[in-house]
Amino acid sequence: MYASFKSIGAYVPPKILTNKDLEKIVDTTDEWITKRTGIKTRHIAENEVTSDLAYKASVDALNNAKMKPEDIDMIILATITPDYFTMPSTACLVAEKLGITAPAVDISAACTGFIYALAQAKAFIESGVYKNILIIGAETLSKIVNWKDRTTCVLFGDGAGAAIISATEKKEEAITDIDINADGKYKDFLITPGRGVKYGCESDRIWLEMKGNETFKVAVKTLSQSVTDILKRNSMTSREIDWFIPHQANYRIIDAVARTIKMPKEKSVLTVHKYGNTSSASIPMAINDLYKIGKIKKGDIMLLDAFGGGFTWGSAIVPFNL
Ligand code: UT7
Repeated sequence: MYASFKSIGAYVPPKILTNKDLEKIVDTTDEWITKRTGIKTRHIAENEVTSDLAYKASVDALNNAKMKPEDIDMIILATITPDYFTMPSTACLVAEKLGITAPAVDISAACTGFIYALAQAKAFIESGVYKNILIIGAETLSKIVNWKDRTTCVLFGDGAGAAIISATEKKEEAITDIDINADGKYKDFLITPGRGVKYGCESDRIWLEMKGNETFKVAVKTLSQSVTDILKRNSMTSREIDWFIPHQANYRIIDAVARTIKMPKEKSVLTVHKYGNTSSASIPMAINDLYKIGKIKKGDIMLLDAFGGGFTWGSAIVPFNL
């Protein structure tokens, strides 16, 4: 049995925050944000939390696949902004909203979360345990950024994307390969120190903190290596890839990695200008954008890559089967 990428869906909350709006909140400019990151707008959840966004993205993915919630055997949800920091998991809340009982678990791999969820779903399906797994990347990062810190608050946005990974006997539909990795020595580069038991209630450092410039350099180097390696070990080049769909943190990172693998500009998917960095949600949201405008078609080969807190990183070669 192979694991196949069967469906996609997404949801973004309606409120849009522009760079001009941010000029009124912190000492920044539209020009600085655009030039350094490519971001122009981001969506902000007002009366919704992560499980609400995740649920709406999941319903979209189910509808696109013409499937019912009862068809789902397991939910794997990647997030760094769960509704509750210890329990219950956000995946359990989504299962309840969908009206199903099924194994449901959150994973924490920051911006690489969607690729980690994909790797776990692939393993469960290939081992014959489950047939249909709902994987979700969902974030309300606006709730953990410090709105007084211009170095981070301009970068992030809220949103959710969901995919259904299903069992298939057709080899041409199979997820080709996934590479995931992590290196904890970079733990302090991207961290919310006061959101766990280590510093807990004693800490006033409850907001996301990032050493942006240092993170940028490691991200470019590590991602370039990861995508080069996965292409090489599958005897592929950018010619066999229809869509390069990277994590959307900064257009300069995407551009640098794309140049390393000689990916033509028209195959590189960019959504960072609209949504900012939505962490684990950015890749499925970008796939969904391609799907909704009718650009991606069944059988197209996607190359995904992501990098995030931990540090974690990963890449994947995935045929699109919706
Ligand atoms: O998604 C997970 C992984 N995340 C990433 O991969 C993000 C990686 N990092 C980045 O994308 C970039 O490093 C940033 C966009 C965060 C920052 O861009 P940069 O080109 O690395 O800028 P910098 O941090 O070196 O800062 C340059 C200057 C500094 O001023 P001085 O020291 O040169 O006077 C900052 O204080 O820009 C200043 N600055 C700002 N100015 C206006 C920092 N943030 C802002 C701001 N508006 N929002």
